[in-house]
Amino acid sequence: MVRSVQSSPVREILALTQRPEIISFAGGLPAPELFDVSGIEAAFAKVLVDQPERALQYSTTEGDPQLRAAVADRMAARGLPTDPDQLLVTTGSQQALTLLAGTLLEPGAVVLVEDPGYLAALQCFAFAGARVVPVPTDDDGLIPEALDEIAARERPTMLYLVPTFQNPTGRTLPTPRRQAVAESAARHDFWIVEDDPYGELRYDGAAEPWIAALAPAADRTALLGSFSKVLAPGLRLGYLRAPDALRRPCVIAKQAMDLHTSTIDQAAAARYLHDSDLDAHIARMCAAYRERRDALLSGLQQALPAGSAWNRPDGGMFVWARLPTGHDATALLRAAIDHNVAYVPGAPFFAGVPDPGTLRLSFTTHSPAEITEGLRRLSAAISS
Ligand SMILES: Cc1ncc(COP(=O)(O)O)c(C=O)c1O
Repeated sequence: MVRSVQSSPVREILALTQRPEIISFAGGLPAPELFDVSGIEAAFAKVLVDQPERALQYSTTEGDPQLRAAVADRMAARGLPTDPDQLLVTTGSQQALTLLAGTLLEPGAVVLVEDPGYLAALQCFAFAGARVVPVPTDDDGLIPEALDEIAARERPTMLYLVPTFQNPTGRTLPTPRRQAVAESAARHDFWIVEDDPYGELRYDGAAEPWIAALAPAADRTALLGSFSKVLAPGLRLGYLRAPDALRRPCVIAKQAMDLHTSTIDQAAAARYLHDSDLDAHIARMCAAYRERRDALLSGLQQALPAGSAWNRPDGGMFVWARLPTGHDATALLRAAIDHNVAYVPGAPFFAGVPDPGTLRLSFTTHSPAEITEGLRRLSAAISS
């Protein structure tokens, strides 16, 4: 059911996007020139000078107490009161997905996912032997009525979703739909895995509440966060907030997997959160990404064929576009690469029937001028 891109033609073509002459809308990477290198360098230096015996030693599976306290404070500031003991530090949020899959999913268990959805999560659930069942979406994300109907029929163990600035679509689930998802989970007794690596990259509008903060979902939601998009993905630091009944088995699973996430990386992140202003850093990143998003959005009309459609995400890294009927984004990619521009076709992100006209465009890693030039090349590729 899940279409793996492991050895697919798409993956082979995307390998070509690494060429330096390519303007790539294909990646999902943060802009490296925006990394706070000096702040991170200072944090590592400080933990090595001040407390090398702690920073270089084994530590607990749950994670660095100072880091967990800082993450709990940040969650509380965003409207979700959190005790540090509710948190487990993970090696990226990707590990949290693996832990949850190992803890919750028996072979044959049903996992509901947004269609299209985050591919690496779908693969993780499929590896655990789960049956991945797609739930239809529209421009506002998951459709609650469809979710409720499928949940009644399929008796899922969990629903996985990225409600804010989703990968691959950039869509955000409005609050009434979040409430409906929470109520559906309570009604049909399934877990919610709410993955939120992009929520702090907001360029317009006001934040929606986490599903984890809504009453019907409070005792049945695992909320995943990450430092990958707001600080640096190379740190491999994520975190999971979950009720005791779910977090405890995840701790045991993580202990068996890797004992704990790198002590020094956690200590440096905690130091960074204490000494530097992460929110100011995020605000700088958001200012740059907003300009890049706007450059992409303002050029799409010219670049894509008449009859194409795309969304205008308030944050995150991705714009989702659909070419008119008859166009195939996978076939077009070859011509795009020949014109030194790239994107990711949307088809592999679908767990259900793929829409061949869709594509994902990331706007984070090029300047507005490069984005404009990339769109000019895309337009030439389409005309060819
Ligand atoms: C929706 C989603 N979840 C999780 C991840 C994994 O992030 P991390 O670097 O925290 O493991 C990504 C990475 O792109 C993502 O897009």
